Amino acid sequence: MQRARGLWRAGVAATLGGSRALSGPPGAGSGAPGAGSGGPGGGLGPEAEADPALLRASSPELARRLRGLALVRGGFVSEGEAAELLREVEPGLRRGRYQNDHWDRAITGYRETERGLRGGAGRALLLRVTPAFPPRSPPRPSAHVLDLLPGGAVGPHVDSVKFCGCTIAGVSLLSPSVLRLQSLRDPQDWVELLLEPGSLYILRGAARYEFTHEILPDEKSFFGGLRVPRGRRVALIFRNDPPETPPDPLSDLPAFIEDPREPPAPK
Ligand code: OGA
Ligand code: MN
Repeated sequence: MQRARGLWRAGVAATLGGSRALSGPPGAGSGAPGAGSGGPGGGLGPEAEADPALLRASSPELARRLRGLALVRGGFVSEGEAAELLREVEPGLRRGRYQNDHWDRAITGYRETERGLRGGAGRALLLRVTPAFPPRSPPRPSAHVLDLLPGGAVGPHVDSVKFCGCTIAGVSLLSPSVLRLQSLRDPQDWVELLLEPGSLYILRGAARYEFTHEILPDEKSFFGGLRVPRGRRVALIFRNDPPETPPDPLSDLPAFIEDPREPPAPK
């Protein structure tokens, strides 16, 4: 079943994202692939550490606060696995058309599908991301496959608490990109993750509920001083189910618009 558009994305924080800071030490990440994920310290639970070259934060305090909650690992899947995963998801993607959502503005230049990964590489990937999730709330077996054109972007949003639980894990294929988090409480607090092809990111807890996340459009695609040119990017995103009573920690904030099922009536 393909999910309705906009289902994951609980509205756009239109007021956020205006004043993007490009300060800080340039070129923290050289673009070199990470050392891989399987070695010592390669766990994916809340004790896990991000690859420091792939994460920038507005302050060391914020980086500490989000330790284990906003995480990125380079080289999580090999080139061979990536090719196999793409072969597996391309037929499903090709059934859809690239679209632009005008009414919620959360995402542009994309097509997406929601599907069980039944091939060997997909099943293996699901097993490998499962440790990122709480044992009692594993990822759903189907992945959200999001295909973004070079000119496409995912605007700042918080995934719907109705349809998504505490943890989001995404594997990026093809093009590098920058995932930017911005605090709903303190908009000066931000984190950027450099998502290289084959990398894994994890958002959970405060990073998932109290920050918007976005994939920067090509013209804003910088990681500090490092330009990250956007090509076509395919992401495999794993989520768990929400608890019966989803947490609603910041529902008083304007960015927490409930996901609109119906586009607004034309004026
Ligand atoms: C989304 C989203 C991020 C990504 O679709 O809700 O945030 O990695 N995608 O593409
Ligand atoms: Mn999202």
